[in-house]
Amino acid sequence: MEQTVQTAIRCRGITKRFGEVVANDGIELEVRYGEVLALLGENGSGKTTLMNMISGIYHPDEGVIEVDGAPAAIGSPADAQALGIGMIHQHFKLVEPFSAMDNIVLGTKEKRLPAKALRRKVLELCETYGLTIEPEKPVREMSVSEKQTVEILKVLYRGARILILDEPTAVLTPQETDKLFAILRQMRAKGCAIIIITHKLNEVLAISDRVTILRRGRSVDTVETAGVDAARLTELMVGRKVSLSIRRPEPKDPQTILKVVDLGVTRPDGSAALTDVNFTIRTGEILGVAGVAGSGQKELCEVLAGLLPAQKGAALYHKENILGKSPAEIINLGISMSFVPEDRLGMGLVAGMGMTDNMLLKSYREGKGPFVDRAPARALAESLIKELNIVTPGTETPVRMLSGGNVQKVLLGREIESGPNLLITAYPVRGLDINSSYVIYDLLNQQKEKGVAVVFIGEDLDVLLELCDRILVLCHGRVTGVADARTATKEQIGRMMTGEEVDL
Ligand SMILES: Nc1ncnc2c1ncn2[C@@H]1O[C@H](COP(=O)(O)OP(=O)(O)OP(=O)(O)O)[C@@H](O)[C@H]1O
Ligand SMILES: [Mg+2]
Repeated sequence: MEQTVQTAIRCRGITKRFGEVVANDGIELEVRYGEVLALLGENGSGKTTLMNMISGIYHPDEGVIEVDGAPAAIGSPADAQALGIGMIHQHFKLVEPFSAMDNIVLGTKEKRLPAKALRRKVLELCETYGLTIEPEKPVREMSVSEKQTVEILKVLYRGARILILDEPTAVLTPQETDKLFAILRQMRAKGCAIIIITHKLNEVLAISDRVTILRRGRSVDTVETAGVDAARLTELMVGRKVSLSIRRPEPKDPQTILKVVDLGVTRPDGSAALTDVNFTIRTGEILGVAGVAGSGQKELCEVLAGLLPAQKGAALYHKENILGKSPAEIINLGISMSFVPEDRLGMGLVAGMGMTDNMLLKSYREGKGPFVDRAPARALAESLIKELNIVTPGTETPVRMLSGGNVQKVLLGREIESGPNLLITAYPVRGLDINSSYVIYDLLNQQKEKGVAVVFIGEDLDVLLELCDRILVLCHGRVTGVADARTATKEQIGRMMTGEEVDL
């Protein structure tokens, strides 16, 4: 039997401007029923903007969006919903105190149906697509992955057959990502059209049928996934060949700068976050920290930043115990911390301010007084824009107008430029495009070569093994071991992450 390919959405010549910025410039894109289309492009290349137009949040300045073969007037998210389009946003839009069920049916007509019938309908959807939820659990008690499942159910409940996911895996563990992909494959098998945005090329290769590549607001190519590899995709995205290898300079004259002894930290609810943690950090080296999400990484950062009290042990920085010191005292000792949280929002930048003012904020924190000269901060902002390839109209443009990845580069750049002796960075490449990620790895290497002790808390084991000198592995708040990154294997680290003792 001949298979007919049915187009779900076709964008023809879509252009969108924000003032001077041309976010989308004549974009052509097609997604079909029964396929997963990956949308790939560097930070600020216009992916979210385009998806926001398909889902009725923004309106194109030029061009036509066709749904099921006919031009569609998508004036609002409700119009998009009526056309069967559902978008899972990067920042979830759930009502935290409400249960999963209440969130799913919120604002739909069926809300008036008896609770039992609603429940049955939701559970049927779960069964069809292989989703699992606890219907009565309040959203505020859910993990990121559970919240995402509720978001997906919410759009399916509204009858979506065209699903858009904007960086759904940026906040998931590899195991959760596998689960999400199983759900997406199930949807594809049921005939849904799916557009997924992700910066992780292995995910693009694993889940998509075709890839559309955006570069600076233009759609430069669409390729069959089966015919490309990571190197080719990067080349299409960046417009030139990019080396996807990380250098690892030898540490020069490493000296212990921080010695953590018998550290014990308890969470506010009384559970143990860190137990008997012992390790050292040396100058001129990169110490990686590996562990499944929630193994104590966050608490380790917080306790070393002076944001969380320790119940036991010491952290000797040049022989001086920093536990119990205030965040300001710790910063003044030359310890710098950047933690990119799962939601990438509360990152310590002021969204309404431009880059210059955000640079100044950091100097206030260092107590340099209220009368500040803006020139050095602006020069710093300008050099960061150049060095990190930050897409912004200028140093005074409010940070909230930058794309997600670019906001993050501003934050990281600021920490690195404060000239620390010990730099602790957690998840610095979350949400960054591949090219920017390699820029960040190189910046960390430059810090290392300057003699800075770098702690890199990461998620990607391949990167940890390539970049770091040693890798500390955490499991349930305990150190399972410290591996030599030059000789350890991914498999060994993976086993240590689940608490297994491994002979290194
Ligand atoms: N509301 C807005 N006002 C002004 N400029 C905007 C607005 N939204 C997006 N932009 C600009 O449009 C361009 C494209 O942004 P968009 O968020 O679509 O990028 P993206 O490809 O999703 O990037 P990322 O991978 O970082 O999420 C960027 O230069 C961004 O600064
Ligand atoms: Mg985006």
